[in-house]
Amino acid sequence: MPTFPNTFDESTHILVPTDLKASHAEHLIKLNMAGYDVVAGLRREDVPALAEIAAQEGTREYCPNDLKRRWGDEAMAEAKLAKAGGSGVLRLVSQKNGNTLGFGWTGHIDDEDQEHLPMCENIFALRLHEASRGKRLGTTFSRVIVAGSMALWGARNVGLATWASNTPAVRTYLSAGAELVTTKDDVRPTILRGPGKFQYENHRNDVRLYMQFPWSAK
Ligand SMILES: CC(C)(COP(=O)(O)OP(=O)(O)OC[C@H]1O[C@@H](n2cnc3c(N)ncnc32)[C@H](O)[C@@H]1OP(=O)(O)O)[C@@H](O)C(=O)NCCC(=O)NCCS
Repeated sequence: MPTFPNTFDESTHILVPTDLKASHAEHLIKLNMAGYDVVAGLRREDVPALAEIAAQEGTREYCPNDLKRRWGDEAMAEAKLAKAGGSGVLRLVSQKNGNTLGFGWTGHIDDEDQEHLPMCENIFALRLHEASRGKRLGTTFSRVIVAGSMALWGARNVGLATWASNTPAVRTYLSAGAELVTTKDDVRPTILRGPGKFQYENHRNDVRLYMQFPWSAK
């Protein structure tokens, strides 16, 4: 049974290739060689970087709950970590200046996702800073989020849910070795930006895609 952190960490851990199974280490090495570290654990002082990504356009479009109830501020992040058996958070960090360029997490699958992913125990999510999108970083980072979660917290049989209209996300997960399990016609909530700081919620017809990483079984 995986054990995920359920509160903020006092310190964090920079993943090294020997933390991971030998067959997963190459993905971390690729990121390291390109100037990125992957840092496991979340401290209170790391939350503003997550909140910044949560407020960016692509994240509000596809993951509005990040801003509303997951990572929008320290209180939300604390509640998110404490919820449903915890969350293992990993950040993609620049070796040059320590800036957070993206983050992802794994946790126990909830009942709704489990219905569509009966073979999965855990669920995964990925967000990149808008300045780091479009460089295919998501593929390698996805591999490392899942591999790191397997090594550090015992995650297994990891799945995910995404939206069919989010082409970069779908292609990223397929490139990272995910397979489509099933689909569901659904309505996607979104937060749109109005004039000035005004934001409003909307809904769009879309298709929910449920995928799994077969290589995370053991
Ligand atoms: C989704 C996300 C993780 C993708 O990561 P990324 O590394 O920026 O992905 P890239 O834009 O480099 O593209 C990945 C693939 O999608 C393709 N792609 C990107 N934009 C595309 C578009 N508008 N139309 C068609 N294909 C597109 C790329 O060509 C690439 O394809 P390939 O590698 O199969 O040749 C990242 O954009 C992000 O964090 N977005 C905001 C939050 C989010 O949506 N998270 C996912 C929620 S499930």
